[in-house]
Amino acid sequence: MKLMNVVKTGVALSGLFLASVMTAGTATAEQTLTLAQISEGFDPQRTYTQSCGACHNSGAAGAPRMGNVEDWTARLEKGRDVLLESTINGYNNIMPPKGMCFTCSNDELEAVLNYILTTTLGE
Ligand code: HEC
Repeated sequence: MKLMNVVKTGVALSGLFLASVMTAGTATAEQTLTLAQISEGFDPQRTYTQSCGACHNSGAAGAPRMGNVEDWTARLEKGRDVLLESTINGYNNIMPPKGMCFTCSNDELEAVLNYILTTTLGE
């Protein structure tokens, strides 16, 4: 059920983005591109397990731990946007760019980040 919520959040977020693209009056091609950025069958949970879990399950090298409310509440104080930026670009020379999911689009990385936050904090 939680996973469905993440997927729904993802869909809702892309909806918001699309809405802003449409108000800006830009082309339809751009909207199609946005929708295509989360590939069909993309599973944030599986990607988390494959790419992020190695560090974020155990808290290796000080990584905020999956399911640890304190760890993630502290990070979330910076704002989701900042956390997404750290996920995409890497952080502090320890957290690797894209969390080592080199095939992930930015939207997919956002879905994985949302999965972590939803699972840990329920938000
Ligand atoms: C090689 C280990 C490693 C992998 C793989 C990894 N991380 Fe991290 N991550 C870290 C470490 C270590 C930190 C804490 C760095 C620090 O605070 O100095 C971190 C921090 C973060 C932060 C907080 C950044 C901030 O601005 O405070 C986010 C968000 C994050 N990781 C998301 C992810 C996601 C999503 C994935 C998988 C797609 C992932 N990480 C994969 C090691 C990893």
